Amino acid sequence: MNTKDWLITDQGECQPRPAAREWDLIREYYYLHRFLTEILDLVERSKQESEQWDYLPQIRRLVRQLITNSYWVQTQYLEPCPQTGRAIMTLYDEIGYPLTIQNVSFAPGVSSPIHNHGTWGVVAVLKGQEKHRFWRPCNDAEFPSKIEPTGEKIFRTGEIISFTPNAIHSIEAIGEEPTVTFNLYGDSLPQSRFEFNPTTETAKTF
Ligand SMILES: [Fe+2]
Repeated sequence: MNTKDWLITDQGECQPRPAAREWDLIREYYYLHRFLTEILDLVERSKQESEQWDYLPQIRRLVRQLITNSYWVQTQYLEPCPQTGRAIMTLYDEIGYPLTIQNVSFAPGVSSPIHNHGTWGVVAVLKGQEKHRFWRPCNDAEFPSKIEPTGEKIFRTGEIISFTPNAIHSIEAIGEEPTVTFNLYGDSLPQSRFEFNPTTETAKTF
């Protein structure tokens, strides 16, 4: 299994990050609810500390701890819908809950729109492989939503990809079998998540 960690920045750079060794992460009885409690504690602490506090390394480590120890999380997913080629299984939610936790399945060849998330995110590839393309804003005064590609990379089972809130990417499931990813996102502000159209150089909220 691949155990690499990555960071995608607001400028569309894909940077390798040190990953915890799996054998340092073995825990007995590490359930989803324990993971969520640890994530919420981290997010709460981040609000009390400076804006600059970088919580993504700790969150990546906890996500790796979760996928290393939780067979349940590894096996909760739906087959992609025959019409759309996608399926989303929400692993936990309630009204006002400040995290999004989903296992997402993509059939081979299915791709996402170009988008940001408006909040931090950590994605772990549980099955298959997917190609990400990265983009950065052009900072064009006339076309504020103009973006340009900065690169692409294939992520395989076991890799963890983290995103800063304005990182822009698009995804394509590649290979022979459906791709399954574990997705964790923070709370996004209204009007902060965009789908970009590089042809018209516009963006719309989603
Ligand atoms: Fe995304």
